[in-house]
Amino acid sequence: MVYFASRFDPITQDEIKVIEFLKKQYQELGLLLIEKNGREGYENRVKIIEKICPGFIILNSDKINKDETIFTLDEFEDLSQYQILTKEFLNKNNIKLDNISSDDIIYLNNYNLVHKDIRDFINYNLLYIRERLFVLMDLKRLEHSLNVGQAAYDLATDINYNDPKKARFAGTLHDIAKRFSVEKTERYIKSIKMDKILKEPWQIHHGFAGGGYLKNNWLVNDKEIFDSIIYHTVGRENMTVLDKIVFCADKISSDRDYDGVEKYRAQCFSNFEEGFKSLLKNQYQQACIKNGKDSIGKLLIKTYNFYFDKEL
Ligand SMILES: [Fe+2]
Ligand SMILES: [Fe+2]
Repeated sequence: MVYFASRFDPITQDEIKVIEFLKKQYQELGLLLIEKNGREGYENRVKIIEKICPGFIILNSDKINKDETIFTLDEFEDLSQYQILTKEFLNKNNIKLDNISSDDIIYLNNYNLVHKDIRDFINYNLLYIRERLFVLMDLKRLEHSLNVGQAAYDLATDINYNDPKKARFAGTLHDIAKRFSVEKTERYIKSIKMDKILKEPWQIHHGFAGGGYLKNNWLVNDKEIFDSIIYHTVGRENMTVLDKIVFCADKISSDRDYDGVEKYRAQCFSNFEEGFKSLLKNQYQQACIKNGKDSIGKLLIKTYNFYFDKEL
């Protein structure tokens, strides 16, 4: 058995290429996971490796922890029966190995070098999610985001939506731009060529900026997720099921305590469509009370008209 050692923290495009190259050369190939972080980081990486390299034997090497280089194996006696591929082997075969850490996921450094499947896996399973969100928002907004993700997951499960984890991801990320400055918000709205949104009330801008941010920085390319996030504040005509899930989850998440929330919560779980319409009506009425009918923005009026079929 030959073992290929790497930190895999996370797996990069180049590391996958290396694995593919080595698979061709050796019939039995295992991965030696160099452990330098905490337990959670290790478990996340095992999950990732199992996903991307199914059937591989993963061997933890927590004894190897004193050197920055990934191939310091002198102390690893248990492995003496195996052949370990060395840095020299990689150099000789002109194989490049990126060194990207989970910090790069959190701070998005060299994020484009992370393998796409890994990025999707990390997003879908919300790995490092607290750390990733905490660089963008305060704790209160972070807790709200996680609660909305949970509410979206619960609603999706309740109505038999085909992908509750996707709903959880969209729900968790819906307010990612909520704490952006005005300039940053405008920049991301313009990046997705939705400048006309800037004429709408500022309360809805963060949804569109969030869509732009996820597209540009997290490299999220799922249109359904993108739409559900940009329209989470005021909805739109012909909303998808995911649009409605995120819209409702935002308004009934466990941290919400406004008058009547219990009623809306129960309604969403007993009759989702009715719950959605009640929340939309409430949103419209509250916006009229707060801002006056003439200042609630065209988008909310359009959505309201579509679902309640009347001129205002
Ligand atoms: Fe929001
Ligand atoms: Fe929200």
